[in-house]
Amino acid sequence: MNILDIIAKKRDKNELTKEEIEYFVKGYTEGMITDYQASALVMAIYINGMNEREITDLTLAMAYSGDVLDLSSLGEVVDKHSTGGVGDKITLILMPIIASLGIPVAKMSGRGLGFTGGTIDKLESIPGYNTNVPVDKFIDNVKKVGISLIGQTLNLAPADKKLYSLRDTISCTESIPLIASSIMSKKIASGANKIVIDVTCGSGAFMKSIESAKELARVMTKIGELANKETKCIITDMNQPVGHSVGNILEVIEAIDILKGKYLPEDVKNIITELGSNMLILAGKANSIEEAKGKILENLSNGKGYDKFVQLVQNQGGDISYIENTDKFSKAKFILPIIADKTGIIDKLDALTIGKLSVYLGAGRMKKEDDIQKEVGFVFNKKVGDKVQKGETLGYVHANDERKANEVLGMPLYDIK
Ligand code: URA
Repeated sequence: MNILDIIAKKRDKNELTKEEIEYFVKGYTEGMITDYQASALVMAIYINGMNEREITDLTLAMAYSGDVLDLSSLGEVVDKHSTGGVGDKITLILMPIIASLGIPVAKMSGRGLGFTGGTIDKLESIPGYNTNVPVDKFIDNVKKVGISLIGQTLNLAPADKKLYSLRDTISCTESIPLIASSIMSKKIASGANKIVIDVTCGSGAFMKSIESAKELARVMTKIGELANKETKCIITDMNQPVGHSVGNILEVIEAIDILKGKYLPEDVKNIITELGSNMLILAGKANSIEEAKGKILENLSNGKGYDKFVQLVQNQGGDISYIENTDKFSKAKFILPIIADKTGIIDKLDALTIGKLSVYLGAGRMKKEDDIQKEVGFVFNKKVGDKVQKGETLGYVHANDERKANEVLGMPLYDIK
């Protein structure tokens, strides 16, 4: 077997065998297959797709490319993952609430991908927070405080780690076989037996149409079934950014403010209650969706979710003085207002445009090795449906480069009708 034949086979729209998929995953993980060969095959998969059998084989090969954790000592672990979005800080808010309700949270998250943000980049905005911990420490952390959020730094699904960052830099993110195998391989490797997946849908998601979101959900549910993991997919809207902020530090601050009970944007409320209630039902901690939603909102408003977040950060080496006083986080050099150019109602705040501009400002990566700028991004005071007056401040651009900030302000960020 050789990689050139495998690339040619997929390029010519043929089905790959289990052995060919395993050969590729092993060869790429071990460095025998180069980035440029992997890029060619990934692009061929992106263009020509894979059938369900190929996707399952790819998922399992990636899941078993490294260690597979056994979390049975922790009890019923229900994991959560999102297919990605703009301003998506849901994990930071929801998972501490879930842990505060007595469900162990042992979650491996990802970095930013394409125009979407990543939980690990956000957590690493908290000085000292260590996303790279050994397996026994990861499990001990969950035993000690009920929650640990880490990056893909253990030897868990290393094939996905390499393919994920490769896809990010060759425009191969929006693909059902590649997303389904990426997410499900991580979930299988990280050991949870029940999974809730937020399948985002809209301009700021990888799935732009409801049909494609439903298909991705169907494929992931099927893989979960085959891997003996009960998987529930919830489709959520991603046409405008989630909440009010986009960018690593800015989103961490918003998550903390929400956990502190300062405010709760309607879209964040809907997503945390929708996903969280399904997690509670899967964990056997509630009998109905309504009861479960009530429990989520109760532990948000009584501060138990916030307390759990503080414990998480402290236990993971983070400096909690930043959580107690978010003014301590570093700020972008230029914070410039976005001004309404007319009176009316906001018709659009396009998540894709905002996601791409955030990457342009430095919040995401253009190349695999790029460093990100943690401070940059956007804060939006106004969202779709809000009434605005000409001259009113709609939000702010946070940038470290004044030219870029002005360039971004020159773009139609809001559509007012
Ligand atoms: N999240 C992942 O883990 N992988 C993807 O491909 C997309 C979102």
